[in-house]
Amino acid sequence: MCAYRKITPSARAGEIPPFLAMDILDQARCLEAKGKDIVHLELGEPDFPPPENVVQAAFKAMEDGYTSYTPTQGIMELREAVADYYLQEYGAAVHPDKIIATMGSSPAMMLVFGTLLNPGDEIIIPNPHYPPYPNNIRFIGGVPVKFNLAEKDGFQYNLETIREKISPKTKGIMVNSPSNPTGMLQDEAVMRGLAGIAEETGIFIISDEIYHGLTYGVKAHSILEYTDRAFVLSGFSKRYAMTGWRLGWVIAPEDFIPPMKNLHMNYFLSASAFVQKAGVEALKNCGAAAEEMRLTYERRRDYLIPELRQLGFGLEVEPQGAFYLLVNAKKFSNDSVELAKRILDEAGVAVTPGVDFGERAEGYLRISYATAMPELKKGVERLGGWI
Ligand SMILES: Cc1ncc(COP(=O)(O)O)c(C=O)c1O
Repeated sequence: MCAYRKITPSARAGEIPPFLAMDILDQARCLEAKGKDIVHLELGEPDFPPPENVVQAAFKAMEDGYTSYTPTQGIMELREAVADYYLQEYGAAVHPDKIIATMGSSPAMMLVFGTLLNPGDEIIIPNPHYPPYPNNIRFIGGVPVKFNLAEKDGFQYNLETIREKISPKTKGIMVNSPSNPTGMLQDEAVMRGLAGIAEETGIFIISDEIYHGLTYGVKAHSILEYTDRAFVLSGFSKRYAMTGWRLGWVIAPEDFIPPMKNLHMNYFLSASAFVQKAGVEALKNCGAAAEEMRLTYERRRDYLIPELRQLGFGLEVEPQGAFYLLVNAKKFSNDSVELAKRILDEAGVAVTPGVDFGERAEGYLRISYATAMPELKKGVERLGGWI
């Protein structure tokens, strides 16, 4: 018999930080429990219910017996619908065999990094960035290498800066357009340029396209329009307001599909069967519902941008996608965590500290407009009063 040992969580797991947005949400919920009214501008999920026909399709699929595991790659009907979507939206031909249906784009991210990276391999990522990118890369033993974006350039990627970051260990370059947290889209020239780097060097582009379909006055470009040396992550959470359904997909180069399928099988088995059927309905029959939500976001964005500028928050270039504004709040404080906390406590408005998205966003706040117009107006009024 061995002596008793206290076993603690692994160092690797211990190094994963939580999202600061969730900390703010928790603090906001505490205040609400004490009876305080809070305006939520920190949330990164649509405030709409999913389209009614998607809900009906899920019920029907359950009644029809879609309640078991599916093939690990996902049902063919869904993969064909995803392939059709790329052809119609982007003119990109994607074979269904290159698609894996996942439980959201988050597990898809894990599959990409898991099949691409050996210990010490590098992925070049933008800064600011969606928080899980560096965390996921590190957890798998890789190294995130950041390149800085600048507000004055509309957070556009500079291809020369990216080239300078390439080393013999580089396996991929991450692009997120429209972006969380900036709401910015990369110009077509950037997407084309990234594809050019991939073709020239053999490095892959990993394109997180989860906010496609949520753009205002412009159209997002899929990396697959320019190269197939790419991994694409996307899904149903944002465009179809289906965050809790946990459904997405990854598109990968052919030779990565077999190991990716094995990884998917070992960790997840398959995405939920009836949710996959509902996903088919969303892709085939929800264009009008998605457009209505998009128009609502657009109206909110058009209201919020001048109001926030008027209050003194900096926004050099107007974001044209997702449902976020990353506003410069340095006029008020350089410490975004402390500032967000004060705004929550003193104004009753929850916003996300920029530093959640990397050092480059310190001094900024992310404001989400996935909140109904009356709440946005109340938030602006409260911020005005507080300032
Ligand atoms: C940039 C980005 N990628 C991926 C995700 C994950 O989305 P899901 O796993 O719901 O598909 C999010 C969620 O907020 C996001 O903002």
